[in-house]
Amino acid sequence: MGFLDLAKKRCSVRKFLSKPVEGEKLNYILDCGRIAPSAVNFQPWVFIVVREEENRKMISQAYSREWLLTAPVIIILCGDHQTAWKRADGKDHTDIDIAIAADHMTLAAAELGLGTCWICNFDKEKLISILELPENLEPIVMLPLGYPDESVLSDRHLKRKGMEEIVKHEKYKP
Ligand SMILES: Cc1cc2nc3c(=O)[nH]c(=O)nc-3n(C[C@H](O)[C@H](O)[C@H](O)COP(=O)(O)O)c2cc1C
Repeated sequence: MGFLDLAKKRCSVRKFLSKPVEGEKLNYILDCGRIAPSAVNFQPWVFIVVREEENRKMISQAYSREWLLTAPVIIILCGDHQTAWKRADGKDHTDIDIAIAADHMTLAAAELGLGTCWICNFDKEKLISILELPENLEPIVMLPLGYPDESVLSDRHLKRKGMEEIVKHEKYKP
């Protein structure tokens, strides 16, 4: 599959089948996150994989949507603000690094026929306490993972701005 087809195949999945995710596939997805580029190659991340039902239920207290519990796996990508690169003007690149790793994982999952959904709208403090994260780690993205229930795919996936609206040549023009 070419890259554009894979990128189009990835979409937000908000309901999963009860079929478990094979360990090999989970490892492949994590490995695709592991090899992502990061500023100065600092790799300021920890990926927490939650599979136990009891623990997934705990996690869902930080993002209370019924569908989240249908995912057999939840990966929480945590950024390490202590080790991430800061530019001379102080800009912290943790979010960018984590976003790239998350994108690698969502695309890898799509390649394997698995579904994911980016989740950032969680209760951060609750999640920190549930995962017992140390002070330097911030949970940045939550990725539920599983086989998609194809009957409930959102049509938002098909809605994108046109090229003419977002691409400017040589310099910005309103
Ligand atoms: C940074 C980011 C944060 C997001 N947070 C959430 C979220 O908290 N809950 C949710 O249901 N979807 C979330 N999404 C999914 C977007 O709503 C979705 O990607 C967008 O509507 C386009 O649909 P598609 O992913 O199917 O192409 C998030 C996506 C991104 C990239």
